[in-house]
Amino acid sequence: MTKIRVILATAALAMTTGTLIAHADVEDPDVKARMDTMGGIGANMKTLSQMSKGQIAFDAAAAQAAIDEMAEAAETIPDVFETPAKDPESEASDEIWENWEDFVSKAEALQEAASGATVTDEASLGAAMGSIGGTCGSCHRAYQL
Ligand code: HEC
Repeated sequence: MTKIRVILATAALAMTTGTLIAHADVEDPDVKARMDTMGGIGANMKTLSQMSKGQIAFDAAAAQAAIDEMAEAAETIPDVFETPAKDPESEASDEIWENWEDFVSKAEALQEAASGATVTDEASLGAAMGSIGGTCGSCHRAYQL
């Protein structure tokens, strides 16, 4: 293994382990399910971000697959967040269940942005990240502690 490969492998392992450790403390299955859904969406967004920065090679099919997974995951957001379960590790605001329809509309905005995005080249990757990323921020600002 070259030095850079060792560094990348270590970083990937640290990231995976970090997620597992954070979620290992979460006992409530509803909280764990929604964190896992968001974690998956986050991992796909990270792939797009790394591609756009040239940290990994541009690959239109891989980018599209990540976007398609985000669209599918977004559809499940209302289901995995429906129960107002609590956990000390959770960053979900109580406002979610006080403004449920607005929360669902923000999940739909992500679903629509992701299902409407097509990546063929680096310019369309940038455009997709812009439209998808805006919907993450809009929900997190309102509902993530
Ligand atoms: C409809 C609202 C909503 C949308 C849209 C949304 N998120 Fe989230 N996200 C949340 C909430 C709420 C939490 C906190 C969940 C908890 O801790 O219980 C969260 C948590 C996360 C986490 C932390 C997961 C963990 O391991 O605990 C990541 C990463 C994340 N979101 C990424 C994203 C990305 C990237 C997008 C856009 C592609 C996105 N989210 C779109 C509401 C949303």
